[in-house]
Amino acid sequence: MHQPYRVLCVCLGNICRSPTAEAILKHHIADLGLNIEVDSAGTSNYHPNKAPDRRSQKYAKHYGYDLSKLRARQIHIDDFAKFDLILAMDDENLKEINALHQVAKKQLGTEHIKADIALMSQWDALFLKQAVPDPYYGEQEDFERVIVQCESSAKAWIMRWQQQNIGLK
Ligand code: 4NP
Repeated sequence: MHQPYRVLCVCLGNICRSPTAEAILKHHIADLGLNIEVDSAGTSNYHPNKAPDRRSQKYAKHYGYDLSKLRARQIHIDDFAKFDLILAMDDENLKEINALHQVAKKQLGTEHIKADIALMSQWDALFLKQAVPDPYYGEQEDFERVIVQCESSAKAWIMRWQQQNIGLK
């Protein structure tokens, strides 16, 4: 079997959007039996080792996704060597990831960097290049919006990976 294709979903806190994106991508990947691994991280270190926000867990569960075993961590330099693709939930995350990418190139050497960087919504015709809005100070509908957008964007990524023969066993 080939090395798995590795994807890292990134938001600010790693307790609302990126764990939701992680669980949704994992669900579809398992359904299709693809050789793709998914993890998530935050640009901040606000909630180290914390489980996802209770509201994210609750609404994700309504949609059939279990976030309870995920734990928050901050993105680190080595992630740029380990992951093939880093997905930012919004433009602020993207800016932070791009800045870290520059640091990673300097510290690790360009030849060791493999991560492409993109928005979660990069190929999603329904939410094309739109942010997945931060729900942290929001209401139920804001958390549900995260799930709806992540489901839509996850499907778009999976179609793209299948077109490119990525993740075949
Ligand atoms: P996330 O949401 O980036 O989707 O995990 C947030 C979680 C926590 C905070 C902000 C956004 N915070 O300020 O603690």
